[in-house]
Amino acid sequence: MDKKVSVIGAGMVGGTCAQRLAEKELCDVVLVDIIDGLPEGKALDLAEAAPIEGHDAHLTGSSKGYEATAGSDIIIITSGVPRKPGMSRDDLLGINSKIMKDVVSKTAPLSPNAIIIVVANPLDAMCHVAFETSGFPKNRVMGMAGALDSARFRCFIAEELNVSVECINAFVLGGHGDTMVPLPRYSTVAGIPITELISKEKIDAMCDRTANGGAEIVKLLKTGSAFYATASGAVVMAESILKDKKMIIPCATYLEGEYGINNLFVGVPVKLGLNGVEEIIEIKLTAEEEAGLKKSAAAVQDLVDAMAKL
Ligand code: APR
Repeated sequence: MDKKVSVIGAGMVGGTCAQRLAEKELCDVVLVDIIDGLPEGKALDLAEAAPIEGHDAHLTGSSKGYEATAGSDIIIITSGVPRKPGMSRDDLLGINSKIMKDVVSKTAPLSPNAIIIVVANPLDAMCHVAFETSGFPKNRVMGMAGALDSARFRCFIAEELNVSVECINAFVLGGHGDTMVPLPRYSTVAGIPITELISKEKIDAMCDRTANGGAEIVKLLKTGSAFYATASGAVVMAESILKDKKMIIPCATYLEGEYGINNLFVGVPVKLGLNGVEEIIEIKLTAEEEAGLKKSAAAVQDLVDAMAKL
């Protein structure tokens, strides 16, 4: 393939990202992890599935260093510790910020033109670490949250209305946490706002389920957090970038005044193309929505401040 994506962390999310990237034939994939043999084993297993799946993506694994990642177009960072039941994403701050710093300081110099997609949690705070450590411009560092959160919302809407997920669009703004802001007004079924089709009570319940969607899965899995949909979210962002599709996807993006928020990674709709975040889409919010977004941004700011004291 003429594109190369490195996936750092070959665990549940990383392994699934590698699988989806390869099976969609988007790029060659390099998997990296600190666990001896894990990325090599997963890469080989996926390569051996390729004749059946019918793709020619080349997969490499490395637990010995980062050389193989050199010249990547995209670096997807999933390395970190996932949540256990009862833990919030924020509980991962200390350990995952150290891992993020380590990984970015090793990968960024080898791929100076890459685009970084952060997946490790707490997502928005980890974007700050990746941004500062890499020194990359803001259009080339982003976080995967809204793609997943809006997919969850779309899934619940489809179930409620018994219609295809494909005709549903949904928007979720804010940080990747309990304070995220699903936007029913901008969530549609074949262009019809869901507010025309579903009662307020049911919409409120779906918004709540979306905001707590990660915790719902953690509670069920007991030994890890969501990974299928998480990987899908990262891969759709990579696809839009690699193919220069210019999809509009909610992503954690560095804001400098947009939505009245400054110097903070917060989830807003952006246009994703070859240059990464090519445009930040500002939509008009009601007072209530704006208050929700500000609250969400304040929660992200608290984490960034807490990191500075670590
Ligand atoms: N360098 C490379 N890999 C690392 C490092 C490091 N410094 N530290 C940890 N890892 C690897 C682990 O060895 C593990 O294989 O990251 C991998 C993480 O995989 P899982 O434990 O399976 O976690 P996963 O479910 O994939 O979640 C990863 O994504 O959604 C978020 O909250 C989640 O922060 C978590 C991340």
